[in-house]
Amino acid sequence: MAANKSGPIGIFDSGVGGLTVASAIKQLLPDEAIVYFGDIAHLPYGDKSPEAILHYSKKITDFLIGYDCKIILAACNTVSATVWGELSRYTMKRAIPVNVIDSVVKRVAKLNPDASIGIIGTKNTINSGTYPDKIKKISPRARVFSLPTPLLVPMIEEGFVYDDISNAIIRAYLSNEVLKEIGTLILGCTHYPVIRNQIRKFYDFRVEVVDSAMIVAEDLRSTLESGKLLGSEAKSSDRFFVSDHTEYFGKIATIFFEKKINLEKLDFWK
Ligand code: DGL
Repeated sequence: MAANKSGPIGIFDSGVGGLTVASAIKQLLPDEAIVYFGDIAHLPYGDKSPEAILHYSKKITDFLIGYDCKIILAACNTVSATVWGELSRYTMKRAIPVNVIDSVVKRVAKLNPDASIGIIGTKNTINSGTYPDKIKKISPRARVFSLPTPLLVPMIEEGFVYDDISNAIIRAYLSNEVLKEIGTLILGCTHYPVIRNQIRKFYDFRVEVVDSAMIVAEDLRSTLESGKLLGSEAKSSDRFFVSDHTEYFGKIATIFFEKKINLEKLDFWK
């Protein structure tokens, strides 16, 4: 693999959710440039077939490699859970493939081997069984309880956060019997950090709610350090591409990235 130290970090998601991870990376690694692609034209990935998700992910990977990206980060749990084996093989000769599940599982499972862990995510992420499988490999005594929460992505993408509608949906999901014994909840979708505080409040702050963004960014820094691939100064500026664009999207992108960004429309699907 011939990754170029001065190349940017390529990040993609089905929409703006991956911007939560991009934001953590910029906080931790301000000298790295990033190229982001949000496949809004195909959002959500959470109920697409694995074939479709792999097809989109490969095409986006090729696009990011065209920018000489040294890392291709699938900032989407659905991609990381459903098509990761094939996608990482597809990527690895040209850039370092990184997903958003492995670092989080390692961190959570090692911290408390007897933990009672809940996972929420898209239907695809939960039905794949990837989180419980990976947690059990590291920590066989852990108890894992998973729940698909498919309404949360469209709810967030439509801007329903910190209001009665989102509180009611969050309450309806998290009151599910399946999650009643958990001490830790993994937010298994990169959209969810935006509602993390609402979720913590639902549990009266008694459940540890794990947001993968910073954990993934910290692990990425170690990967770059050990591969001697840390950039010393961002030479090019960050780019943010989306396959579809509305004014409204520009607004929520800023909430996700916590800074104003310029989204460039690029629809290479046609
Ligand atoms: N943000 C994505 C994830 O982490 C998924 C949202 C979707 O497209 O369904 O799973």
